[in-house]
Order: sequence, then C-alpha cells, then structure tokens
Amino acid sequence: MRVLVIGGGQNSEHDVSLASAAAVAEALGVGGYEVSTVTISRAGIWEVAGVSEGATAAESLALAMTMITRADVVFPAVHGALGEDGVLAALCALAGVRVVGSGPRAGAIGMDKWMTKLVAEAAGLRTARGRLIGAADCGDAEFDGAVVVKPVSAGSSYGVSLVREEADLAAALREAARFDRRILVEEVVHGREIDLAVIREAGGVRWAAPPLEIHAAGLFDTAMKYDGSARFTVPAQLSIAESGSLTRAALALFDALGCGGVARMDFFLTDEGPVLNEVNTMPGLTAASQVPRMFAAADVSYVDLVDRLVRAAEVPER
Ligand SMILES: Nc1ncnc2c1ncn2[C@@H]1O[C@H](COP(=O)(O)OP(=O)(O)O)[C@@H](O)[C@H]1O
Ligand SMILES: [Mg+2]
Repeated sequence: MRVLVIGGGQNSEHDVSLASAAAVAEALGVGGYEVSTVTISRAGIWEVAGVSEGATAAESLALAMTMITRADVVFPAVHGALGEDGVLAALCALAGVRVVGSGPRAGAIGMDKWMTKLVAEAAGLRTARGRLIGAADCGDAEFDGAVVVKPVSAGSSYGVSLVREEADLAAALREAARFDRRILVEEVVHGREIDLAVIREAGGVRWAAPPLEIHAAGLFDTAMKYDGSARFTVPAQLSIAESGSLTRAALALFDALGCGGVARMDFFLTDEGPVLNEVNTMPGLTAASQVPRMFAAADVSYVDLVDRLVRAAEVPER
C-alpha cells in the first residue's frame, strides 16, 4: 500500500508539522508501507523532489497531484491553517483519494476556536466564557479582569497571552492579531490541564485513550511545548468519575463535529467538572507528542497507531 505523507505547511507550525511528518513517514516504513513524502513550503510551494524548482504554488500543486494520484492513502501531517483546517482533506475529497484524519467540515470547525465553542456548548459541554473581537476593534476592548487573549485560529500557543493587568491588554491583542483577524478574549479557567485522544478506527468504532495531564505553571506556552521542559503524566491520576466525565465529553464532541482519524480534545478539569479548551484534528504526531503517548498507555505502539490511522482512512464525503 502506497502512502503519501504531507508535511510542512504555510503557517507558524511549519516546523512542528515537519517533525510530525518525518516521524509518521518513518513509522509507516517500519510498518511495511511504501512511503513517499512531500513538503509544503512556508510560501505554499509543494516541494516535489527535483521538479518543483522555480514553480509557482499552482504549478507545484499540479506536480503534487501526480503524487496524490499514485497514492492509495494520503497522510496530511500538517498542523494549523491550510492543512489541519480541512483544506487538504478537501483536496483529497475532490480527487476521490482516501485521506487520514477528519474531513473538511470537522477540520474547519475544529481549527476555529469560536465555532468549536458554539458546537461544544450545543452538545452539552462547558467552555470558557469568551467574546470575539475583530483585530480592527482592538483599541476599543475594555479590561474587566484577568483574561486569556488568543487568535481564534492558530496553534502551538502562538499569540496566546494571559493578561492580568489592564496595561498589558493592548499588547496581547496586537500579538494575537498577528495570527488571525479574529481574536478570542476568554475568562481564565482554573483547573488541571487534561488532554483526551479519540481515534475512529476502520469500521467506525471510536474510543478514547487514557487521559494525559500537562503540568504547567501558568500557560502551556510555545517554549514549554518544544524545549523539552513539558511534564506530562500518562495516564493522568483521575477518579473514575472524573475520567468518565472527561471521556464522555471527548466522545460527544468527536461525534458532534463528525471527526475522523485521531483528534485531541484539551480540557481543564475544574471543581465543577470538565471545561473544553480546544480541539486538534491533526494533533502533534511525533512519538514524544501527547497523542502517541496516550495510545502507548493503551498498549498501542506508535507504529501501530499510524497503521490504524492509515487503515481507517476514507474518501471524505463532508
Ligand atoms: N481560558 C483559559 N484559561 C486558562 N488557561 C488558558 C485558557 N486558554 C488557554 N489557556 C492556556 O494557554 C495554552 C494555549 O492555549 P490554546 O487555546 O490551547 O492554544 P493553542 O491552539 O495554541 O494550543 C493552553 O494549553 C492553556 O495552558
Ligand atoms: Mg492548545
């Protein structure tokens, strides 16, 4: 079986995607797949070895389509905008090619923290109270207590700030506005940070791996995510009731969004129960990333995990 792994992408998570794609490609090779790879540059050029030199994005995409045509399954290990947001799944849907992960709809909603909130609330989950501010209206935003400011659509904590004092609000909004025209200003949630991973296997059965706890003093920021200082506990130490309510919430949201492949649902566990923070429909996929570590705790090795994802790949219908 031939799998095309796509990495890189046109957003701030480019390097993270390169790491995910390299790890996925290696594991697929170990699993016996015939693997080819293509990188999307920061400028949107599909770097097809040897042939896309000097090509425009459109020309390079045409070359990459030949690779997509030859693949049995496409594995788009691209985080963030123009990847995880469903556009690569949409390309495969149009081409009638099986693709790993969520379809265009779930990808698009999951990449949008405001839309995710609306769907999650409608599905009975709690989320942080928040308001949406347009980048153009940053100057009019009023400070009414500590808040978290973040771009509606980004990742790896880029543009996310905790604002405790009025004097810091304007800079935080400007920083978030570098990543999106829409900015989310949220109440600060106090609780443990617990991530859940849900996989939909070939045949449609979906289940959640044991939860993982992130130990971060304050925001789980970009530096902590990638400098090796992040401390995780897998499985998180939870009561049966806590674990049950988190798992039910994660599965409910997976179903409400209609996710495929694997999705990571990030929660705060508060005294009043789970509060959803965000959904990642193409979460970090190096062997050391949260999702593979959660599945390892369920005795699903990294090679097995990527194999299951490829076997579950479908041509998206929506
Ligand atoms: N409303 C909030 N209250 C408290 N902490 C928050 C809140 N929103 C985000 N954070 C912190 O900031 C981190 C990054 O925010 P997140 O929304 O997950 O953005 P990203 O998509 O970049 O990971 C979270 O892991 C958490 O530590
Ligand atoms: Mg996050």
